[in-house]
Amino acid sequence: MPEPPTRPRVLSGIQPSGDLHLGNYLGALRNWVAEQDRYENFFCIVDLHALTVPQPPAELRRRTLDVAALYLACGLNPATCEIFIQSHVAAHAQLGWIITCSTPMGWLERMTQFKQKSQGAGRERVGTGLFVYPALMAADILLYDADLVPVGDDQRQHIELCRDVAQRINHAYGDVLKVPAPLIRDVGARIMGLDDPEMKMSKSVAVERPGHAVFMLDAPDLIRRKVMRAKTDTAPEVGDPVGAGIANLLDIYAACTGGTAATAYAEFAGKQYGSVKAAVADAVVAVLEPIQGRFAELREDEGELEALLRRSAGRASEIGDVTLARVEDAFGMVPARSRG
Ligand code: AQP
Repeated sequence: MPEPPTRPRVLSGIQPSGDLHLGNYLGALRNWVAEQDRYENFFCIVDLHALTVPQPPAELRRRTLDVAALYLACGLNPATCEIFIQSHVAAHAQLGWIITCSTPMGWLERMTQFKQKSQGAGRERVGTGLFVYPALMAADILLYDADLVPVGDDQRQHIELCRDVAQRINHAYGDVLKVPAPLIRDVGARIMGLDDPEMKMSKSVAVERPGHAVFMLDAPDLIRRKVMRAKTDTAPEVGDPVGAGIANLLDIYAACTGGTAATAYAEFAGKQYGSVKAAVADAVVAVLEPIQGRFAELREDEGELEALLRRSAGRASEIGDVTLARVEDAFGMVPARSRG
């Protein structure tokens, strides 16, 4: 095993499979930014994962750079975080294949996200990549010997699979992989759809349903309209217990204002739904508006953004190649480079 880094290492990423929404921010990005000084940070834009469903090429290119600019606009510091595009580090795909070969199909068949996302398209049409996606995600994490993976709650099952595969490989080939742990916060870990508080807010669903999600780049007026139209039950005011729609709005409020479910409930107990929604909309706008301003500036210079991403990918590759060589060696593959 390699020398442990001085600070725990974190790895996470977001797919450029759609425009980023409030769930991506509150469940993932916000936490990466808040904790970045505690960790050695690797944050990628996972474009290979986005290919698991067809993407219009020009859209994929735009969104990949948008996601990178949003990472920076949210406050990730490029001096202390590696921020890069997954496909720029070839070792992701290379280790991904080895991990895929070591992952039983039965484990992948149990992944709820695959079941949900493949519904409708049917097995004859859905790409194999969508099925093996969790194996590539495991490789993303294992490539950097990550200690922790800060994600939203929907990714918990995939991190468990990553741990299981790493342990399986370690059992068969010796102690070659570091077994990571999920890092999931209590508040904002599962933001639900505004139009359906029983389902998680999701980029792909939002494409067809405009009222489903607040996008990070929505104009303040639009954010307010979407929140004011959020689906709730028909009770006149916040009671005890609260329905799923109001619980979701209180969670969003708590996450945006640095509170907890209990403090948000205490603030709004007995209040009319209209005033709760107005306060939630204000809190969301207050968080997103400054990010939007910084995003616009960063997006003006695409050359600079791409240069930053390539520099980081170079550094990430150096670290990833070491892990890849270690794993290839353990599996009995002849080294591509001389050991000298
Ligand atoms: N609704 C959510 N609440 C809290 N966290 C969320 N995340 C996603 N949705 C929510 C977290 O955002 C990070 C990036 O997610 P991803 O791009 O890897 O894909 P995903 O989890 O599948 O997100 P989406 O938005 O639902 O995208 P599509 O529709 O393309 O699949 C992860 O940390 C995730 O937990």
